[in-house]
Parts: sequence; C-alpha cells; structure tokens
Amino acid sequence: MPDIAIVPRPASVEELEGGPFLVDGSTAVVVEQRPELIQVAVLSADLLGRVAGKPVQVRYDDVEGPGAVRLLLDDAAPEGDEAYSLVVTSDGVTARAREVAGLVHAVVSLRQLMACNGDEGASVPAVRIEDAPRFAWRGLSLDVARHFFGVEDVKVVIGLMKHYKLNVLHLHLSDDQGWRLHVPSRPNLTRVSGQTAVDGDPGGYYSASDFQTIVQFAAARGVRVVPEIDVPGHVNAASHAYGELNPSGEPTDAYTGIEVGFSRLHADLPATTPFIEAVFGDVAAMSPDEYVHIGGDEVLTMEAEEYASLVGTAARVVRAAGKKVIGWQEIAHTPLEPGTVVQFWDPRVDPSVFVEAAKAGALFLMSPASKSYLDMKYDADFPLGLEWAGCVEMRDAYDWEPTTLIEGMPPESVVGVEAAVFTETIRTLDDLTTMLLPRLAAVAEVAWTAPELRDWDDFRARVAHQGAFWDRLGLAWHPSTQVDWER
Ligand code: ACM
Repeated sequence: MPDIAIVPRPASVEELEGGPFLVDGSTAVVVEQRPELIQVAVLSADLLGRVAGKPVQVRYDDVEGPGAVRLLLDDAAPEGDEAYSLVVTSDGVTARAREVAGLVHAVVSLRQLMACNGDEGASVPAVRIEDAPRFAWRGLSLDVARHFFGVEDVKVVIGLMKHYKLNVLHLHLSDDQGWRLHVPSRPNLTRVSGQTAVDGDPGGYYSASDFQTIVQFAAARGVRVVPEIDVPGHVNAASHAYGELNPSGEPTDAYTGIEVGFSRLHADLPATTPFIEAVFGDVAAMSPDEYVHIGGDEVLTMEAEEYASLVGTAARVVRAAGKKVIGWQEIAHTPLEPGTVVQFWDPRVDPSVFVEAAKAGALFLMSPASKSYLDMKYDADFPLGLEWAGCVEMRDAYDWEPTTLIEGMPPESVVGVEAAVFTETIRTLDDLTTMLLPRLAAVAEVAWTAPELRDWDDFRARVAHQGAFWDRLGLAWHPSTQVDWER
C-alpha cells in the first residue's frame, strides 16, 4: 500500500522530509472572514473532525499559530478554476486555490491522506501536492425515473462524487416508467406518473424545494446539477399523465417494464409544442445550472424529420431560457448550435456523424456504455444490472482513453467524461452503491488524471485503500477480485 494513495491520482505529489501532521482536538481550520469561505471552512472542519474523532474548530483571520489547516483563496495558487495546492508539514497544512471548488478538492485530498491513530486523532504524511483536473466536465448520470431515489439517497451519491472529485450530477428525471420532478405548469406529471416505477415498485418525485435542497447540497461540495427531461422518446410517463399528447387523446397505460424505444411525442398534435415549452421553461427556471439536458435517445418509431423538429423545439426553448443544451448522441443527427454538448453513449453506430458535428462546433461528453455505464453487470453471474453493453469490470471502467473513442474526433472537442447508472434493476441505496463502488472511482480517475499518469497497477494499489473508507461509511460495495482490498 503506497503512503500517498489519493484517487484520482493528482498531477504532482512530492513527499516531504519531516514528521506527519496530527489532526486532533487542537486542530483548527483557518480562513479569512469572507462569505464564500465560511461554508467550505465549516464543512471541512466537520469532515476532518469526524475522521479524526476529535472536534475541529473553525477560526477566522488567525493565519499564524500551529495546528492550523489554512484554506487560502489567492493568486499564488495554481491557475485554473478547480486547481489547488496542498502542503502538509508537521506544523500545519496550507491549501491554496483560486476558487472555492479548488479548496474543496484540496480538503478531499487531505482527507484521503488521513490515517486514524485511535484515541490520538489522525495523522497525515508530510507532502506537497499540485493538482488540477484534465477535463472540466466530470459527471455521473443517475436515473431516478426507473426507480426513484429520494433526497437523502442522492446526498450519499453527491458525497461520493465529491470524494472522487466529480463535479456534475446529471439527473435523468423522466422516462417511460415515471416522472420525478414537480413541474408547476403540468402538475399531473408528478401527481399521476410520480407514483409509478419499474415492476410496480414504489415511485416518488422531487418537489421544487427537494430539488433546491439537492442543488444546494451539491453546490457546497463543488458539484453542479444538470436536470434531464427526456424527449421526444422515453415519454410514456408524460403520455400517461396527459392524454392530449397522444393521437387518440386518451392517456397511455402506465408502463412498468424495461423495454425502450416505443414511446414518443407527436409533432403534429396541438398539445405537443406547448407541452415542451411549459416543461423545459419550468425546468430551466428551477435549475441554476447553465445546462439543461433534453434527452433525445432511442426514438425508434419516428422519421428523422419529425425527430429533428421536436429536438429543435426543445433546444430552442432551453436556449430562450438562457441555458445551453446537452443531449444524448442521437441529437447529432439534427442541426445543432455550436457549443451544444453531445453525450456519446453507444458505439454501435457509424461515428462519421459525430466527427461532422464536432467540426461544426458541437462538444462531446464521453459515456461509452461498455466502460462507463455502471449499471452493466461486473460479470455474467452478478445479481444486479444489465448486460446489453457487456460486463464492465473494474479494469474495463479504468482502462480507456476518452479522446480516441471516436475515430477522427478532434481531441479538443471532448469536454469530459460521465459515468451513468440506469436503474431498471436497481431498487435500493445498497443496490446503487454496489454498482457505483468501486467503479465510480475508476471512471473518476479517467476524467481527472492526465493520461501519462494513469496506470492500472498503480491505480489498483491506490484504490485498495478505499474499501476501508466505504466500510467506515457503512456503504454496500462490490469487492471486485481485480483489486486486493484493504478493509
Ligand atoms: C441511453 O442509454 N439510452 C442513453
């Protein structure tokens, strides 16, 4: 087990001479008294105190004195919104960043270095770290539509994302089986389809205030929330709640199976454009993030022209609300405004359309199902998960390069990497963390760490340490035999 076992691997780590820093009852997190620093200071003191088993104080404007963990926002920090430096000596800890997000990452690195000393608190080896992410978009897409996960479960997921320096939670809020965000102008979406889920399992949905709680909890941990409403397919929850979306005028039946591709909006019905305008208008108004995800995947029963028209309507509404558009890879078959993000997920198609879209100014988010879909089984006998993209073991989730997945794609078009977990077979928080852990750590390193620093054997040795962390949190996880776990 290496002494310095941070996941994802930092850009530069230098072990320093001298003894470790001790986090104990005399430790304080020290910040200048600036409003933007107070929350990160309080959360950091709480985190360090919980790990050390000793209360850690917050102090303001006291930059001298031993035992201090200083969090500094200043121009001496490495350049970049999320970059940070962290210096640990026996006297104290100094974290520097230009933005609060960098300080959050610094504190996570510090936390990963802490080793408990029983009643004495925790020790941290002397080290100098300089670090910054490779990609600006490091996401996890969570399907809360097939099975619903409430606010408390989502907070657990956000905590794990923060711990692996992921910064975008993409919530898949609607699908055939359920609708999970209250939309004020179309209340039947949640009143009717908030109740349904795969296999007749319990449903649920987020009120506007639940959604704000998630957004604020995430923001305090350096995580943005991108809401997805999937159109023009995957819409049975909508057409079950509003019959006017169907040619018959009658609501469709609730759907609790796991087939895809059968449901659709109809461009020529009078209710359709008002529906898209109302829903995306409300979602854009509720969500502070600069992106709204419009879905666009697997519309198997529609001609290309109607598909392009409906995707175009959703994109227009999102842009009119002042937001940027992201959609699944199928939207690359429609005219896109430059800067639109296309989320690549299914490699079973001709890549030339993606290369053309990139050349015309589209950006790409890489979520290849055979690597980053964490709802795929680990192995054929695994009780949870699906297998349509194959099994995804730990090494599959680790050993891939985002910029060469699509032949001919200019590497600078790739904005990031996103893991995804669809929840057809995933019912509980234990199911969910069993699928995320350990693979989320692997995808996070693909997204954060420069390719020349990524190495499977080195990663295996570092990630082994994380098992004890998941145990400590009481989380269910899968002890993949590809790693010699330390528990
Ligand atoms: C998808 O997996 N249908 C995006």
